[in-house]
Formats: sequence, C-alpha cells, structure tokens
Amino acid sequence: MNLAVLGAQWGDEGKGKIVDLLTPHFDIVARYQGGHNAGHTVYVGGTKFILRLIPSGILHPGIICVIGNGVVVDPQALLSEVDELTRNGIDVDNRIVLSDKAHLILPYHRDLDLLSEARRGERKIGTTSRGIGPAYEDKIARRGIRAGDLADPQALEHDVRDNVTARNRLVQDTTMDWRAVLDQLLSHRIRIRPWVRDVSLMLSDAMRDGKSILFEGAQGTLLDIDHGTYPFVTSSNASIGGVCTGLGVGPRVIGGVLGVAKAYTTRVGEGPLPTELFGEMGNRLRESGHEYGAVTGRPRRCGWYDAVAIRYSVRINGLDALALTKLDVLDGLDRLEICTAYRCEGQMLTDFPSDITRLAACEPVYERMPGWTAPTRGLRRFDDLPEAARRYVARLEEASGVPAAIISTGSARDDTILREDIIAKCKLPILTAPLRTGRPS
Ligand code: IMP
Repeated sequence: MNLAVLGAQWGDEGKGKIVDLLTPHFDIVARYQGGHNAGHTVYVGGTKFILRLIPSGILHPGIICVIGNGVVVDPQALLSEVDELTRNGIDVDNRIVLSDKAHLILPYHRDLDLLSEARRGERKIGTTSRGIGPAYEDKIARRGIRAGDLADPQALEHDVRDNVTARNRLVQDTTMDWRAVLDQLLSHRIRIRPWVRDVSLMLSDAMRDGKSILFEGAQGTLLDIDHGTYPFVTSSNASIGGVCTGLGVGPRVIGGVLGVAKAYTTRVGEGPLPTELFGEMGNRLRESGHEYGAVTGRPRRCGWYDAVAIRYSVRINGLDALALTKLDVLDGLDRLEICTAYRCEGQMLTDFPSDITRLAACEPVYERMPGWTAPTRGLRRFDDLPEAARRYVARLEEASGVPAAIISTGSARDDTILREDIIAKCKLPILTAPLRTGRPS
C-alpha cells in the first residue's frame, strides 16, 4: 500500500522529518511537484541534512528516490545536492530516478523570476527566486526543456537559443549568452542522463512487483497553484491531485493521505495569514521554533493554529490523519489560542473563503486553552504529555476534523509519538512494528 505525505498549511510543516521517519516502510519515495524552492530539513545522528530536490528517503540505504514529471529541476542544484550527500557518506548510486518529462530550470528562469517580482513592486509574491514560476510558465506555454531532451543535443541547442533570446528581449539591462547556457547544460547531461527514465512505467512495474511507494509533497496545500491563496502561491499542485499528474499514477494507488501540520502556523512570503501574530508572541514562536527559511533564511511569519485552514486542507486532500509537528515549541507558554472560525464583514465563517480579498478581511475567532510548563521535548508516549498538552491536541483534532496519528516533539527521528491505535483506525498504510528500528541509516 502506498501513502501520500503532504503539507496541510503554507509549507515548512516538517514534512522532511515525517517522510524520513516513515521511509523504512516503503521501497520507493517519489516527489511529485515543486523544485529546489523546497527545503526539507532532516537530522540524522546529529548531522543536519537539507534536501531540496531529492526525496528525503535518500537518507535510508536502498530506498529508490524518484523525481517525477511534476517537479521542475535545476540541473546544477540537483548535482550539488548529490555531491553534498556523497560528501556526507550517503551512497546515491543507482538510487535516483528522474522523469524524462520533468522540466528543467535554466539560468534564464532565475532572471525572469527576479524580473517578475521587481515588476510587481508592492504586489510581489515573495518568491524564493529559484526560477520556479518561470519554469512552470514555459511548461504550460509548451516551450520548456525536459530531462528527456538531454538525449538530443541538436534539438537542445535550438531550444536553448530560442529561450535565451526570449529572455534577452525581456531583461534589457543584461544579455545572456545562449552558448554558455548550452555548454553548461551539455556538461551536466553526462551525469544526469543515466537517471532519466519513464517514471510512470517504472512505478507501475514496481507496484506490480509488490513494491510500496511514499508520495512526498513539497510546500503546502495553501500554496497550491489552484487551491492555495492565489496569487500568493507557488506554481505547482502541492495538494493531492499533484500526485497523479506529477508522477503518472492513478488515484486508486493512493492508499492513504497524511497531512503534516505544525501545532501553530507559519508562512514565508507575502499573502494573507489570518492568525498572524505581530508582537512578542510572534517573535517567541519564531525564535523557539527556529522559524527561518531553510532555503532563503527569511524569517517566517508566525501565528496560532488555524483549524479553519486545516479543515480546508482536509477537504481538498481527503486527509485521513495529521502528523502534528513542533508541539514542543509551545512548551512554557501560559496560554494558547486555536482559531476555530473567522469573522468576516459581520458574519461568522467556518469554511475557508475561496476569495482571497475576503480571506484578507477575515479576523480569527479564537478559543483559549491553558498552556503547560513541563517540557514535551523528546517525549515518545502520548500519555507522558502534560495534561494541558493532551487537551490542546484533543481540541485541535476536534476542530480540524481529523486525528493526529503522529506527534513530533523534537527534530530528531526518535522525538516522536506514534499513536498506533489511530494509525490502525485510520488504516494508514504504515506497519507499526518496524517503525522504531527501520532500516539502518
Ligand atoms: P516560489 O515557489 O519560489 O515561486 O514562491 C512562491 C511562494 O511560495 C512564496 O511565498 C514562497 O515563499 C513560497 N514557498 C515556496 N516554496 C516554499 C517552501 O518550501 N516552504 C514555504 N514556502 C514556500
């Protein structure tokens, strides 16, 4: 059975740790969207790994890591990541598969990303400047260059020349040399080509042979190009639909959907965030939660847990359960708030508004909960949590409409509460027995 693990908020929910934790139960981990705008942080044996493109499963020997057609791939970023992993003793040989249909991010995409943000001025998105949006634009406009195109240097030359010429028309203060772009791409080609495959076929063959897949999402549901807070979103489908379109698999192969959510809320970049905290409490969450972007280092905006947004995420993705992360960041607060509804233009809203102008006008309706003083950091049993923490989780589950099957109490793999009764009840395709030991890493 296969499982999808995706972000239920605005990204940075801690998916890297959850995917890493669950990987031993699967044979393959497959990324279906996004690019190196993602930064999945995983701590293993005291070493910090930040994975941008390669699925977090790479940290477990023997797991095959797939980058699907829905992902946009910067060849330079991919190779740097491979080199960094190798330097840290991770064997990546024969473990990376890249879809022949994955679109490439080339240097002109980064320039176009910067240009587009500059032109927007006050209305900028606050992108990661990685060229993500422009690469997806080229894909939709049917002029993109795909990993499979690396097989044909002549066609590649033609396409690179055309695209760089188009870039030079738009970015007037500098001129890019298409030959330099092509030469660099041709030099990367030698290393990348052996990884390029028909991913849909490969996954189908693997499933026929009884292999199981963990589908790994990047960013979060509220940053989804269709269902997120448009236009303040990323350019891909971070929500569940992206699994099928981004890997070439049918919906029935998804055996369960686990949404990862922080015990509070964060967002990086522009756009509405109804529960945002501006004063001391916002700073407190940012500092205790180390809420600075893994990719750009930007401070994240922080706020209370927003159950309205999570209920929306439950609806969009058909979530079976949550993996609740960073509960320990709330240790020591004397009170907590959970947003259970919005007040908007004199009305109470319990559904997340579809219209962003309306969302921006919403004020959160909070339920106050008592905090706890005893630390939860590193706890591994639900019953060991302070009573107030258990009550907070219970209310949060009730308000969100799904149970929390996993609770993370720290950054290390073992700082985790696995609620086996809930995992079984939700029929999540996770075998509980091997979880603790897993495969050695
Ligand atoms: P882009 O994906 O670089 O185009 O950025 C679009 C929006 O998505 C910006 O608000 C980014 O801050 C946000 N974003 C992109 N990737 C991530 C991520 O991995 N975590 C959180 N926010 C992200």
